Amino acid sequence: MIVGLGAGSTALKALKCIAERLVEGTLSDILGVPCSEQVAADARRLAIPLTTLESHPRVDLTIDGADEVDPQLRVIKGGGGALLREKIVAQASAREIIIVDERKLSERLGVQWALPVEVISFGLRGHAAFIELLGASVQVRTGPDGCPFKTDSGNLILDCRFGPMDDPESIAGALEGRAGIVEHGLFLDLVTDLIVASPAGIRHQAR
Ligand code: A5P
Repeated sequence: MIVGLGAGSTALKALKCIAERLVEGTLSDILGVPCSEQVAADARRLAIPLTTLESHPRVDLTIDGADEVDPQLRVIKGGGGALLREKIVAQASAREIIIVDERKLSERLGVQWALPVEVISFGLRGHAAFIELLGASVQVRTGPDGCPFKTDSGNLILDCRFGPMDDPESIAGALEGRAGIVEHGLFLDLVTDLIVASPAGIRHQAR
């Protein structure tokens, strides 16, 4: 199988489980497609064999985390800044499995989390002003050093606080029509499976 390897702390746990099973021999013949440079480094350290979308453009399943999930399995991703590659891998995947704990469930997206939007630096103030006109307050994401955070593709992230979204599809459509916006963290029709962990146990919801 070709397995998309998502980014973030939850996906890292899945990565470690995959590595353990490869060592035990209960899993074999898989190749991973990492969703970030950090995940690629983690997978190499864990001796998980890797491939690329160039060699394997079709991914059987991807395991990833998310920042916020609504009842229609629409999610916000990009808390770690890997949303562009995560979405490219998700689009290539027959199954997109998202694992969250129950605190990430919301009746409406945007209640808990700002929407990450990846933009090119050219025209930055214009991108931010456009998103503000859509109703969000916008902040340029910074790293631990206080400098602007750079994605694996060398772009910037704008964290856009929309508040509860009545119509995430129209926000996504507006963002997708704007030059300079590379991608946004709304994954609206990509998730096929949601796994929710809570003190009561684990629940699996399929689209
Ligand atoms: C990475 O850019 C993100 O999309 C992560 O998958 C998301 O932020 C969830 O991360 P955690 O599992 O660390 O909460």
